[in-house]
Amino acid sequence: MNTVAQEFRALWGAAPAAGLDVMRLRWDFPILRQTVNGKPLVYLDNAATSQKPQSVIDCEAHYYATLNANIHRGVHTLSQLATDAYEAARGATQGLIHAARREEIVFVRGTTEAINLVATSYGQRLRAGDEILISAMEHHSNIVPWQMACERTGAILLVAPINDAGELLLDEFERLLGPRTRLVAVTHLSNALGTVNPVRCLIELAHARGIPVLVDGAQAVPHLKVDVQALDCDFYAFSGHKLYGPTGIGVLYGKAALLDAMPPYQGGGDMIREVTFSKTTYNELPFKFEAGTPNIAGVIGLGAAIDYVSAVGLEAIATHEHALLAYATGQAAQISGLRIIGTATEKASILSFVLDGVHPHDAGTILDLEGVAIRAGHHCAMPVMERFGVPATVRASFALYNTREEVDALFRAVRKAQEVFA
Ligand SMILES: Cc1ncc(COP(=O)(O)O)c(C=O)c1O
Repeated sequence: MNTVAQEFRALWGAAPAAGLDVMRLRWDFPILRQTVNGKPLVYLDNAATSQKPQSVIDCEAHYYATLNANIHRGVHTLSQLATDAYEAARGATQGLIHAARREEIVFVRGTTEAINLVATSYGQRLRAGDEILISAMEHHSNIVPWQMACERTGAILLVAPINDAGELLLDEFERLLGPRTRLVAVTHLSNALGTVNPVRCLIELAHARGIPVLVDGAQAVPHLKVDVQALDCDFYAFSGHKLYGPTGIGVLYGKAALLDAMPPYQGGGDMIREVTFSKTTYNELPFKFEAGTPNIAGVIGLGAAIDYVSAVGLEAIATHEHALLAYATGQAAQISGLRIIGTATEKASILSFVLDGVHPHDAGTILDLEGVAIRAGHHCAMPVMERFGVPATVRASFALYNTREEVDALFRAVRKAQEVFA
């Protein structure tokens, strides 16, 4: 057996953790069988995007090979079959997040577009002096659309602070909810720190004052079991590509009454009921918000990804990733000169850290030479970097297919980077 094959076995020969047969599941992801720079790929950049199982890849190919047609408009067989597959994926998405009604599921390009949709459409009711409350740990996608809405309307963006562990200060959050607060927009799971926010509690605090809440679930949906009815959130946004699904497809969940009252986000095909030159009437939900030919293959691929994670089981995935994060945190603590950024009590799937004397980008380059893919940078959360006084972090993020052996490979490579830059 050559060294690469031996290394593969060392990485893949993981004992099943907490009920998940990781070794078997890994074979569902063809990309994981690759080598990078002559080393077995250790893919720990899952918070940026996760890898796709064969079933998702096959599903998209199958759609183009056998079903491709535009949806909702054709009377011919292919169009009806494609429409059925597209709408079945909407049903699967409704089931995944336990939405009360299928028309509450709007397909968009991703979390970013979902938040922009709300900021633009719901944002039309903002007036000068109104307030939007976000947290200090938001991704740029949950900051910039609100800044743009504030620029358009004269509304004010308020930011609830976090402590040194990366946890939201609940008293401060509550204090910032005022008579002019029109919306709270907060992340469920921070992509830069790994903090899991107590969103149910935040929603209760906001609702007690009649304030609706948007939850950015880009990082949460792949790692936690999300129930939008139990949370009672008003909007919930997430992306397919972080959930083992295709890129370019995402979901906006919105309570039907709110979505119904909102003006369309974009104009064009599918979102209309009737068009004359003097007036256009709009389609019913969710089509009112799905203008133009959608990413049909992406939606159907997302449906396959949802089927995949549902079959594996989100609770089992969460348990496995939790064990990996705990193991990685323990390993990190043994490395001198390593400081973890984000030490909240409630964390999931993400380990961000900095190394004395080694810039995260340099560390990333050395890790890559060892076949270890992590993210080095500000993670589209520049204000978080500023809060912790670092220019960037190294971020390892875990998925259902990662193993303890891969965590060991990560820290072997980290030690190598420290040696190189000693
Ligand atoms: C917390 C969070 N919000 C929003 C986004 C934006 O997601 P997308 O680029 O898929 O629209 C990301 C992506 O990393 C994220 O981690």
